[in-house]
Amino acid sequence: MIGVFDSGFGGLTILRDLQKALPQYDFLYLGDNARAPYGSRSFETIYRYTLESVRELFRRGCPLVILACNTASARALRSIQQQVLPVEFPDRRVLGIIRPTAEEIGGFSKTGHVGVFATAGTVSSRSYVIEIEHFFPQLKVTQHACPMWVPLVENGECDTEGAQFFVKKDVEALLKEDPEIDAVLLACTHYPLLERQIRAALPSHVRLVFQGDIVAAKTVDYLKRHPEMEVRLSKGGKTEFLTSDTAKFFKKGAFLFGMQDISAESLTF
Ligand code: DGL
Repeated sequence: MIGVFDSGFGGLTILRDLQKALPQYDFLYLGDNARAPYGSRSFETIYRYTLESVRELFRRGCPLVILACNTASARALRSIQQQVLPVEFPDRRVLGIIRPTAEEIGGFSKTGHVGVFATAGTVSSRSYVIEIEHFFPQLKVTQHACPMWVPLVENGECDTEGAQFFVKKDVEALLKEDPEIDAVLLACTHYPLLERQIRAALPSHVRLVFQGDIVAAKTVDYLKRHPEMEVRLSKGGKTEFLTSDTAKFFKKGAFLFGMQDISAESLTF
């Protein structure tokens, strides 16, 4: 199975695009719902929680794990890849969602100015700024943290006046900092659910960039380039779900993310 990890429900927005692009593969999704959100937690805590989840996905037989969470990708991926895998799991791989997005983002802007909306944890790590600079050194990247957006989504408040207020406030703050921005990346798994409000607040010439399809296309490409990994993945077209909260809690929350009647297995770390 391909392991897909997120702090909670947000990774379901990435999982959906992965399932679409790779329908023949099996997926095992793990949401650390009992300890989400990660966005405002310390580096050390995000690393510890993420590593525990990755170990669990490995234990259950995933040779490849995708961190479908920007905060975990920003805070934990590099250390897991450099310090844990070579010593403990030399034949397993963990991929994040920041680099694949950074590789593509420059293609969305004509002015050479892009905005990045993300959690406070992702913004303070500066991972997007650093990664984008490798691929598009001329691109001006302005980040903006939106701490209210994840709670709005998780509380089913996407289509309310409250959501409209906070989205407008954050969009205005970003564009005030750099009025030349013509592409905005939603660098948090929850934010696509606020698409309607974000589009309404953004001027019409500004493009909205979603990560899910970029990550899915890059995963297809990765498997083509790594046949030794591809042959190890099971192909039955099924998806199973794990949660660190209760199965009932997961089912209810997954519904908000457009997934109906999900039965998850509850686990404790
Ligand atoms: N999944 C997280 C991300 O993409 C958002 C939720 C959280 O803060 O845990 O950054």
